[in-house]
Amino acid sequence: MLKQLQIPSRRPIRIFLFVFGAILLLSAGIILVYPANASPLPSSKNSPQNEACLTCHNRPDFQRPMPSGETLSLTIDRTHFRDSAHSGISCTDCHTNISSFPHPALTAQNLRDVSLQFYTICQTCHADQYDQTLDSVHQKALAAGNTNAAICTDCHNPHTQPLLTDSDGSLLPETRSQIPQTCAQCHSAIYDQYEQSVHGAALTLENNLDVPTCIDCHGIHNIEDPTTASFRLKSPQLCATCHTDATIMDKYGISTSVLGTYVADFHGTTVTLFETQSPDQATNKPVCVTCHGIHNIKRVDDPVYGLEMKQNLLARCQTCHPDATSNFPDAWMSHFIPSPEHYPIVYYVTLFYKFFIPGILGPMAVFVVSDIVRRLIERRKGAKHA
Ligand code: HEC
Ligand code: HEC
Ligand code: HEC
Ligand code: HEC
Ligand code: HEC
Ligand code: HEC
Ligand code: HEC
Ligand code: HEC
Ligand code: HEC
Repeated sequence: MLKQLQIPSRRPIRIFLFVFGAILLLSAGIILVYPANASPLPSSKNSPQNEACLTCHNRPDFQRPMPSGETLSLTIDRTHFRDSAHSGISCTDCHTNISSFPHPALTAQNLRDVSLQFYTICQTCHADQYDQTLDSVHQKALAAGNTNAAICTDCHNPHTQPLLTDSDGSLLPETRSQIPQTCAQCHSAIYDQYEQSVHGAALTLENNLDVPTCIDCHGIHNIEDPTTASFRLKSPQLCATCHTDATIMDKYGISTSVLGTYVADFHGTTVTLFETQSPDQATNKPVCVTCHGIHNIKRVDDPVYGLEMKQNLLARCQTCHPDATSNFPDAWMSHFIPSPEHYPIVYYVTLFYKFFIPGILGPMAVFVVSDIVRRLIERRKGAKHA
């Protein structure tokens, strides 16, 4: 007993100080060599640590009952995990409370609770995306008690999520074509409409990546309420990003003057004015989607739903002009810029005025100017005579 409490000799102290100093110097060196932000994310590809978890969790049909009576699948497929975006990190980077078996007791009562308890870990490494979701419709719905609202893990499976972006940050083509399926899990009725639309059919049948997916119009992590007045007012700009871009539209032979002609007509002028002056006030004028539909947009020459079919267009006009009769849409030039083929009367009348007005005003100006000159000359002559 006493022996152990004896003051130790100086030699071990010196050795201790030497070793301690060496460690200090070494770690200072490491800190200096590696810049602080070199790798904020841990990386340990296929670490033996993960293998320890996977010896149990790679078992097929591994599951546990939940108090709610549901079954929680506990199988984590080794190959899927290795191929996922997260293969470089440890299970315990996310499952921070688990280090050994038996695990701490799970407090979640049902499957949804498990997701809701676990998903918040994402913010530790993906703070940007997490912060964006805070104002989104989904988080607002969640805060209001709707536990079905989308959280990170509904759109990204943490164990199988493939990389979405290239090393330069651009979206991989297969990511883009999968997006509508992601939203379809919960918005299946809208997806069904979209799939049949000119945009959705091009994506799903032809893998055409020029068309909009859900996120081009709604955003991804910061989805806002699309039923507000301000969203409606700015919605023509959504369509315009592609429909005024000739490099996209020329491929399909679609006119790029659709925004210009819309803004120029009596409906569009007012909507654009509203958008700049009172963005929160509802408009009673049609925007692109009032006529074309939203998720169910069809080709204009679609034999059943197309807007070139007069009765289809008339039905749209009648929602606001209830007295409109079959020739009512003729009062409006649609997206056409008047030409000898489309609206020839308007075209020729405009053309007539183009010549008529300069033709009348030009000689009149000549007349007025020459009259002034004549008067000036006469006045000078009069002054000389006096
Ligand atoms: C000896 C086998 C075994 C090992 C090793 C193991 N687990 Fe488990 N794990 C289980 C069992 C069994 C359950 C079911 C719940 C329980 O009994 O605690 C489970 C459940 C879980 C759950 C679901 C939540 C819960 O508590 O039910 C998570 C998450 C989990 N394990 C993660 C891990 C991680 C991470 C590792 C590695 C650090 C790991 N497990 C290692 C057997 C194991
Ligand atoms: C990027 C973070 C992350 C990593 C890495 C990760 N997990 Fe998970 N894990 C989660 C989240 C989040 C959940 C809840 C998933 C949900 O919503 O159902 C979860 C759920 C689980 C469950 C419960 C069953 C389930 O699928 O919901 C088990 C078991 C589990 N993880 C084991 C593992 C093992 C083993 C590893 C390593 C091979 C691992 N996890 C790696 C985040 C992660
Ligand atoms: C411990 C840090 C960490 C945590 C926690 C984490 N991740 Fe990751 N995540 C990573 C790393 C590292 C990558 C790979 C990034 C790369 O190579 O570009 C990644 C990649 C991703 C990607 C693909 C990104 C891309 O650009 O292709 C998605 C999506 C993703 N994580 C979602 C999640 C979700 C959802 C959660 C929560 C369940 C989560 N992550 C939790 C570290 C983390
Ligand atoms: C409603 C579905 C949905 C939810 C909820 C969601 N994401 Fe995403 N996320 C996507 C889609 C779709 C993409 C790919 C599109 C893109 O990157 O342009 C994506 C991309 C990403 C990326 C790749 C980089 C980037 O920003 O493009 C990361 C990382 C990511 N999400 C993390 C998260 C995290 C963390 C959460 C939770 C806070 C989350 N996501 C919630 C659908 C969702
Ligand atoms: C896990 C289910 C789930 C997924 C996946 C999901 N959502 Fe949602 N979404 C909801 C719920 C629940 C609401 C709230 C519905 C409500 O309040 O009426 C909602 C609301 C919305 C709203 C607002 C609706 C309104 O009437 O105000 C939009 C827009 C929306 N989601 C778009 C998307 C898009 C785009 C995706 C894919 C990137 C997506 N959602 C994926 C569940 C989901
Ligand atoms: C071309 C643009 C565009 C695309 C693509 C698009 N939306 Fe929309 N979405 C809109 C507009 C505009 C509104 C607002 C309609 C209104 O005025 O009520 C809307 C409304 C919504 C709403 C709320 C109103 C409702 O009908 O419940 C949800 C939810 C929604 N969209 C989900 C989706 C999903 C899921 C997809 C992909 C399958 C998608 N959207 C694709 C433009 C788009
Ligand atoms: C008042 C109803 C109405 C409004 C508002 C409207 N359109 Fe149209 N749109 C039509 C009709 C009718 C046609 C078919 C006749 C035509 O081509 O002019 C059409 C045709 C089109 C075409 C096909 C052109 C082509 O070359 O085949 C596109 C694309 C289009 N509209 C986009 C838009 C966009 C974008 C907006 C908003 C900026 C918009 N439309 C606003 C009724 C409308
Ligand atoms: C991301 C780009 C993009 C956005 C945003 C977009 N479109 Fe399109 N749209 C396309 C492409 C590409 C086509 C041609 C598809 C094809 O023919 O296969 C198309 C086709 C159309 C057509 C069919 C034209 C025809 O041939 O008759 C109409 C109508 C249309 N879009 C209206 C709209 C409206 C209205 C909006 C806004 C709510 C909108 N689009 C938003 C890319 C876009
Ligand atoms: C969303 C509602 C809405 C739709 C749909 C709509 N209009 Fe209008 N339209 C208006 C409003 C509001 C005015 C302005 C009335 C006023 O100021 O006196 C207007 C004005 C007009 C005018 C100017 C003459 C007048 O009566 O003041 C014409 C012509 C017209 N619309 C034609 C059409 C045609 C053709 C369609 C169908 C292709 C159509 N509108 C669809 C709301 C709509």
